[in-house]
Amino acid sequence: MKSKAGLKTVFVCQSCGQESSRWLGKCPGCGGWNSFVEESSAVKPVKDTQRGLLSNMDAPVLLGDISSIHEKRHQTSIKEFDRVLGGGMVVGSVTLIGGDPGIGKSTLSLQAACRLSEQGVKVLYVSGEESVAQTKMRADRIARQNNPNLFIVNQIDLNVVIEFINKLSPAVVVIDSIQVVYESNLGSSPGSVGQVRECAALLTQLAKSRGISMMLIGHVTKDGAIAGPRVLEHIVDTVLYFEGERYSAYRVLRTTKNRFGSTNELGVFEMTSEGLVEVENPSEIFLSERAKAVSGSVVVPILEGTRPFLVEVQGLVSRSAFGMVRHRAQGFDANRLSLLTAVLEKRVGIRLEDQDIFLNIVGGVRVEDPAADLGVALAVASSFLDKPLPSDTAVLGEVGLAAEVRSVAHIVARLNEAEKLGFKKCFVPKNNLKSRMDIRLKSLQLIPVSDVREALDLIRN
Ligand code: TYD
Ligand code: MG
Repeated sequence: MKSKAGLKTVFVCQSCGQESSRWLGKCPGCGGWNSFVEESSAVKPVKDTQRGLLSNMDAPVLLGDISSIHEKRHQTSIKEFDRVLGGGMVVGSVTLIGGDPGIGKSTLSLQAACRLSEQGVKVLYVSGEESVAQTKMRADRIARQNNPNLFIVNQIDLNVVIEFINKLSPAVVVIDSIQVVYESNLGSSPGSVGQVRECAALLTQLAKSRGISMMLIGHVTKDGAIAGPRVLEHIVDTVLYFEGERYSAYRVLRTTKNRFGSTNELGVFEMTSEGLVEVENPSEIFLSERAKAVSGSVVVPILEGTRPFLVEVQGLVSRSAFGMVRHRAQGFDANRLSLLTAVLEKRVGIRLEDQDIFLNIVGGVRVEDPAADLGVALAVASSFLDKPLPSDTAVLGEVGLAAEVRSVAHIVARLNEAEKLGFKKCFVPKNNLKSRMDIRLKSLQLIPVSDVREALDLIRN
């Protein structure tokens, strides 16, 4: 379809980037409904800036001829941030930081930029959303000193930004945010699928060809995906999500994709009046407000990446006032909760069919670790029976459909963390104790359990 001279109208799926010449109700690419939006894209001539990029590209070489080098990284000295990235920002890599508005993406990236510039790394911070003065005000709150190597510019025209990059040749560039920058040759408006994709692709090429570490900030849509096409996630090297409950000061940084490190790492921060502060021992915070010996409260040593920490699982079971029972879970998969509830009913004989069940993971964390299953089942059962677990007891174990307690991975790290925080006992899967464990526990007593009923009998008595 052609409207004006050189202008082509296409429809693009907002979630997967699939293109079509006409509007479609259902996307053949990702199966999403009502996801097509109209885009007019100019059939564009190759720009000078792009031509510059192309001439910089290397010719193919034999794999054997490439000398292997360790990737060079810029370390920000914000330990939580560096660890999540796999040891710092890789030179020439592109990192996308997604998160809800107001969660602290700009604060985090500015803080990283300040730290880098303090070490003599030249940084360009492109702030498309806030004026230079606003960014300065923010920097004054979070920076320890004046930054001789940090350049700020308020610009949204990508071609101008690329010119600045060429002129300044910074080692690190932050684009805040990828949704506000636009390529003027493209007919569509900033923030549209085509724009976001095109800008990200151009910036990625620039990063690779010049060895610039690029940090792109992206907003998240209501359903949690980074706005714009999924394609964005394919283009970049690393995708980080910055999350947290709106009214809690704690923020969690997690990776969903990392070409240069593990995707399991997690960083914890606290938002204070002086910016984000690293939280080195999250367990203490997650357990700090725990009421002692209340029914329904269970502590579980979960593992996020390589790092164990303890979270409190709270269950509340109350008789349903209406005909329809409710199962609600916060920070835990609701389907998994229903499954564990069914196991309690069918295999353990706890009658929950007329009960509302609420489950909450304290501190705004989201638990996907199957080792939390037994803890969740016991939280529900403990609330139903109104029998609290002793407050010095932690619980570990994956639960199968036959109510058997299955072994969990990395048990030593988990038990060490529980002991470090003063726990005296821990329910562990019996199978974990069968294999030899290299563990020296001083004060933590292990209670082996082989199924849910056995664990429940221990708290009933
Ligand atoms: P911001 O980084 O602007 O969020 P985003 O870029 O993700 O939209 O963070 C905004 C919030 O952080 C705002 O509500 C104020 C708060 N904040 C602090 O509490 N302390 C600080 O030092 C800073 C800079 C921000
Ligand atoms: Mg911002």
